[in-house]
Amino acid sequence: MTKLFSPIDFKNVSLKNRIVMAPMCMYSCRDEDGKITPFHVTHYTSRAVGQVGLIMLEATAVQPEGRISPQDLGIWNDEQVEGLTDLNKQIHHYGSKSSIQLAHAGRKAQLDSTIYAPTAKAFSESYKTPKEMSLEDIEETIEAFKNASKRSKQANFDIIELHAAHGYLINQFLSPLTNLREDNYGGSRENRYRFLEEIINAVKQEWDGPLFVRISTDEYADGGNSLNDFLYYASRMRDQGIDLIDCSSGGIVPATISTYPGYQLSRCETIRKEINIQTGAVGLITRGVQAEEIIQNERADLVFLARELLRDPYWPRTAAVELNEKLPAPKQYERGW
Ligand SMILES: Cc1cc2nc3c(=O)[nH]c(=O)nc-3n(C[C@H](O)[C@H](O)[C@H](O)COP(=O)(O)O)c2cc1C
Repeated sequence: MTKLFSPIDFKNVSLKNRIVMAPMCMYSCRDEDGKITPFHVTHYTSRAVGQVGLIMLEATAVQPEGRISPQDLGIWNDEQVEGLTDLNKQIHHYGSKSSIQLAHAGRKAQLDSTIYAPTAKAFSESYKTPKEMSLEDIEETIEAFKNASKRSKQANFDIIELHAAHGYLINQFLSPLTNLREDNYGGSRENRYRFLEEIINAVKQEWDGPLFVRISTDEYADGGNSLNDFLYYASRMRDQGIDLIDCSSGGIVPATISTYPGYQLSRCETIRKEINIQTGAVGLITRGVQAEEIIQNERADLVFLARELLRDPYWPRTAAVELNEKLPAPKQYERGW
């Protein structure tokens, strides 16, 4: 059997294979209410029918001011839980596990209201200047991540991922390019890690299931976090009991990134080996043999696919055919699988 199609456990959650639908914002909420729509149900359930092991919902805002756009999904109030619960029922019905990516956009929020960041510095000329977060603002946002975790449990998610990548709020605290604070949340990397550390501690008060964190492992800019800094953050996360680090890159400052198959893989592999923590690989993974090579050679424990799963919702089947693997069909599709 290929290793790509072998099961893996995270705490009490067993994934039937190593294929993850990467989080992808769909900007498709109606009425700016952050609630699930029929589109979301069709979109995510199709990939569960397609036999993806773990379906990860798009960046979902823990506070309304943490949305990237007014159409983002949200989990900042109790009314948002019902739609998420119904969606999870569908995902589970087809044998996939579900995960939610809890997020706050910080200075990259494109909203009319006030936006927040560790430091009052805009992302670029076309973005608003954020308000520097007070200690009270920080405390409220940490509490919002905690409340969102409680709602994630009520909605029956199997796994939570914290979005600490792509230049959004948590990443803004981690990076010396965007965090110029002089209090306990800025300066040294120990201090820059504090916001994420406190979010993890708060989340764990409500959530005892598997907890992943997505980070940007390369900032593509002088003066940004170094590989050494990322190894330090990864070791802190390991010590806090994080189950997997999902290794992406970029987004903290405008930068040109040269992409090619596996362009984010080497740091993912280094973190896995040096820190002894499970990792997820992402970025231009499109072929079955490529995914199998990553898992087989223990360069990562899971592969996250984004755009390829937009093109082909049944990609696990495509990969199984390529790898000569027998993949069970959803019952209704047996005659055509
Ligand atoms: C439409 C779209 C929306 C995305 N939204 C998110 C998101 O909500 N959270 C996140 O961490 N990454 C997001 N990403 C990044 C993807 O998860 C993934 O890391 C990136 O597309 C590289 O993987 P790929 O080459 O398989 O597409 C998004 C990507 C796309 C194409």
